[in-house]
Amino acid sequence: MNNSEMKKPENQILVIFGASGDLSQRKLIPALIDLYLQGLMPEKFAILGISRTKYTNESFRELMADSIKKYAENDTLTDHQIKNFVENLYYLPINPADLSDYQKVENKLNELNQLLKVNYNYIYYLSTPPSLYENISKNLAEQGLNNSNGWKRLIIEKPFGYDLKSAIDLNNNLLMNYKEDQLYRIDHYLGKETVQNVLVTRFSNGIFEPLWNRNFIDHIEITSSESLGVGSRGGYYDKSGALRDMVQNHLLQMVGLVAMEPPSSLDSRAIRNETLKVFQSLRPIKYDEVNKLTVRGQYVASKIRGEAVSGYREEKGVDPNSKTETYAAIKFYIDNWRWGGVPFYIRTGKRLPTKVTEIVIHFKQTPHYLFTKKNGSQACNKLIIRIQPDEGILLKFGMKVPGAGFNVHNVNMDFHYSELSNIKLPTAYERLLLDAMLGDSTLYARGDAVEEAWKFLSPIQDAWANDESIKMYGYPAGTWGPEFADDLIEDKNTTWRYPCKNLADDGKYCEL
Ligand code: BG6
Repeated sequence: MNNSEMKKPENQILVIFGASGDLSQRKLIPALIDLYLQGLMPEKFAILGISRTKYTNESFRELMADSIKKYAENDTLTDHQIKNFVENLYYLPINPADLSDYQKVENKLNELNQLLKVNYNYIYYLSTPPSLYENISKNLAEQGLNNSNGWKRLIIEKPFGYDLKSAIDLNNNLLMNYKEDQLYRIDHYLGKETVQNVLVTRFSNGIFEPLWNRNFIDHIEITSSESLGVGSRGGYYDKSGALRDMVQNHLLQMVGLVAMEPPSSLDSRAIRNETLKVFQSLRPIKYDEVNKLTVRGQYVASKIRGEAVSGYREEKGVDPNSKTETYAAIKFYIDNWRWGGVPFYIRTGKRLPTKVTEIVIHFKQTPHYLFTKKNGSQACNKLIIRIQPDEGILLKFGMKVPGAGFNVHNVNMDFHYSELSNIKLPTAYERLLLDAMLGDSTLYARGDAVEEAWKFLSPIQDAWANDESIKMYGYPAGTWGPEFADDLIEDKNTTWRYPCKNLADDGKYCEL
């Protein structure tokens, strides 16, 4: 389908709270201009920026034009295109925490509504610190801006709480003034093309689905590694850590897509019901199993390619005695008919050798292996879904080495999205903003699934906070995390996959 055939969103106003902040400048506005240039914005729309800083419409437009030049992925944008786009931007300086300022919000929206005839259809995007979510959503409701006339949608960014209790409180608070179908909880991983492609790979190909179960799959591994440290986000990260920052949301959402049953349709309810069922089937990790089934670590100072890099505790905004993990690995099971007995391994960390996110499906060995390799090991098939970078799919299988005897060599069948000519992968925010404007919440996390994910992690959070026998391992920046994580997964035939620089080869010690 080309863009001219795609459905256009109804006329509407997108209100961004925290509009002068980093997220808005780096991600939201650049994504919106991309949609605009592809003709995917509504016929009539306005983007109303709200925050405390005292910009005028003009100075806000200038600021956003500069952000577009700095951060937009499209480097062919002309000044003319940028100018046309920013004319749709407006600004209102208020204190979003103060209810008495919301009359101004209502007046401004009424004025824009008069001007553009958008039928009172509004999206509120809370691009603010999470501590303001309850306040802003409630203030909007008290001003009658949550459900009167037109439709109203509320987008919030993670974290959705910091543990099970706070997540339930947040959901309950939001549900006092909004219906679940008005709430759009962003997990930007679900906006990635390759994450969505997990569904297409599984359910559009007859060859995979029959194998996608405990009879043919030995184990599943999901890695999301980052080469950068916490950078300027030390203050935020130190209160969060890898478990809350990456596992509770991005990694578990990927588990949901890999492990779900085929949904009855592509409808948002059907897909999100299947994700929920996966989360409900996660075998609870008991408090006293946490030490055996998880590994946590923190990067320490080291040299990466000759350059000295600081350890986590030396980063700006981080407590020098911090106990926050920058690496987490977990082994767990999904107790249902499809996955009974199949171990899942997930890991994520900062300051690892490379930035890569991939899902590796390790198939079982053949029942009787004829062609033993020289070292006695047997190669198993692996399907690697490369989420990023160099998005694509890689299948590893054995082939005969030409010549005498039966020497088996592992070869790759490697598809790269970049080979699909003329197709630019939309950014996650482009896709997610467009879906919210269209009223499609399929790629947004639902409240019940968010709570289930926290429920699964609760004992780990408890044990990591309170059980002093659970070690926090240091790992030198630029390595693959604590070596103890190998014990989680390793037996005679199994290790983590350590993707090398070209991402198709495996091996822990290949040159990076
Ligand atoms: C964010 C986390 O949600 O995801 C960051 O807060 C992390 O700490 C980022 O760096 C990773 O996203 P991506 O798309 O770069 O893999």
